[in-house]
Parts: sequence; C-alpha cells; structure tokens
Amino acid sequence: MVMLKECNESGLSGFTVDGLSVTDTQNFFTQTAPDIREAVLNNGALLLRGVVQSAEPAVFEVIMNALGFRTRDYIGGSSPRSTIKGKVMEATRTPPAWSIILHQEMAYVKHPPEIIAFSCVKPATEGGESTIGDMRRITKLVEPSTLQLLTERGLRLRRTLPDENRVHLKPGIKKSWQEALSAKTKEEAEFACRSRGWEFEWWNDDLILWQDCISPVRQHPRKNELIWCNQAHFWGAAAMIEWARVDSRNEDEEELKEAAQNCPELLESMCFGDGEPLPEELTLNLFHLVKGLEQDVNLNTGDILLLDNLQFAHGRHAFSGNREINVIIADWTEH
Ligand SMILES: [Fe+2]
Repeated sequence: MVMLKECNESGLSGFTVDGLSVTDTQNFFTQTAPDIREAVLNNGALLLRGVVQSAEPAVFEVIMNALGFRTRDYIGGSSPRSTIKGKVMEATRTPPAWSIILHQEMAYVKHPPEIIAFSCVKPATEGGESTIGDMRRITKLVEPSTLQLLTERGLRLRRTLPDENRVHLKPGIKKSWQEALSAKTKEEAEFACRSRGWEFEWWNDDLILWQDCISPVRQHPRKNELIWCNQAHFWGAAAMIEWARVDSRNEDEEELKEAAQNCPELLESMCFGDGEPLPEELTLNLFHLVKGLEQDVNLNTGDILLLDNLQFAHGRHAFSGNREINVIIADWTEH
C-alpha cells in the first residue's frame, strides 16, 4: 500500500512517499493532488521524498500533470539550459563553480510561472545543495522608501544576447539569443520578441532586448497577498561582481569589473522603467537582503521540490562532480 507520510525538515514541510510503483504513479498523484496543492499554496514550498520514478523525465511530467498544474515553456528565460523531453528541462548549465543566487523564475517578465518543480536525478558529489528563500519576508524587510521608489518608477531588465558564435566572449551569464528565444534565425527571434511585446534592437549580430516593465511586487493569483517578485538584486554589474566575489570566482570578478568600466553595454542592466540603471548601492542592498533568506535543502535521487514561484525563490550552492536536476515550470489551474 502506498503511504504518504508528513515530514518536516529544517522548517520545510513535506511528504515521504513509500511503496509507489511506476504503474500507480499517475493515479496516486491524481488522488493526492488536493492535499499536495493545498500544502504548496499554504506553505509556499513542499518537499516530496522517495518518488524514485520521477528521475525519469516523462514520469516527472506525468506527475506534474496529475497534480493539476499546467506546464509551460521557457522562452525568454535567462538561465543557460536545454529541454530534455516534453516540458522537462535541465535545471541549468551554469558552471559548477557558480552558485545560483536566490531568484523567482522569470521574475523580470509580466507573467512569470506560478509554480516551479525540481526533480533530483543525481545529487552532486560535493556541495550543490539547493537553496530556497521565503520572498514573503522581503516586503517587510525592504526599506519602505525603496519599495515606493521601485513601485513608482517600475523595473525593466535590459539584456545583451550575443549570437551563439560569440556568446563565449560575453562576461557574466552566457546565453545567446538563439537559446533565449528558441530561435534559429533573426526573423524568428524578432517574431518571439514582438509576440511578447518586448522591444529589441540588433547590434550587428547581437540582440539587445528590453523585457517587460514590471512592478516590484505582484498580487498572488490565489491569495490576498502582495509579494516581492523581481530580480533587481540579481542583474546589473554590481550584483554580478558581488556574486563572483561571494563565489571566489576571481577571474570572473576581474572580467566583470573590466567590462563594467570599459564596455558596460556587454553586460545586462537592471533599470528603472524609464531605462535608467538602478544605483549600485540599491542593487547591493537588495543582493544581500535576498541572500540573507537562503535556506539549504538537500535533494536526493527521487526527491521533488515543489515551489510556489511567488512565495519562494530558489537557487543552489556551487558544487563538484555531476549534478542532475530536472525542472518544470507551470501555472495553477482550476482544480
Ligand atoms: Fe531558476
């Protein structure tokens, strides 16, 4: 008989699944969907331990559909990653020496995914713990004057997306326009931008992309709550340099500093809605505020971490060896 036992680890609530066979998986998650969805909504984060079948991408997708989430694609996302199968993607191809700073997925667009789920295929040999952070706390921690300033002026991410042949030359996060927009030609890239209302221009073969102008906080789709949801702490030269420093990536730090000084247009920039870059001090304040929320979660093979993408941010520590985590982004559906 399949058992769903409640567990609680370092303040993160969850269930341990015991004795589940592959053939029972879909039925089991369809039946338990109301409890699991309620726990995700109430707590913002939920850990499902022992779902060994979920390491198989097709089964992971079946589980997310059985739970009643509508899966989404990742067009316009910023992390270097590729699709594995169906709507299942690798978590990120960001090199192991990089940590990943806490962030809500695609929080720089108007409609970020409402749910993000991680399935652990293989944990890292050393390091690589996942991190989560309760973003409901930021609205209370941030200076009221900062919240007012960002609410009045808005936030807008300006991205530099090189052609895939030149992407290795870019300091910081390396993602080409072909990868970011799932496009093979410039025409396809332009279509992807226009259909989402994003402004763009070409600098020779590189694409400069302006994503949506957003408010720093959003209304939760199922709760009467305004939640901090943006990546003002993540982008911009000051954040990239601080991130490299925290990771002890000395070469990256120097490369980013030089680019910030001599050719800032090579780097992304987090701007106010009118295009003026955020002041360095504000970026760094937010960087450390969000970093202070980091909470480690150890994922083992067969574990699924379900996050409400508004209530909880996610990240990871640097690692060595192989680390395989799959990811699905999705939205709530009526259920
Ligand atoms: Fe992410």
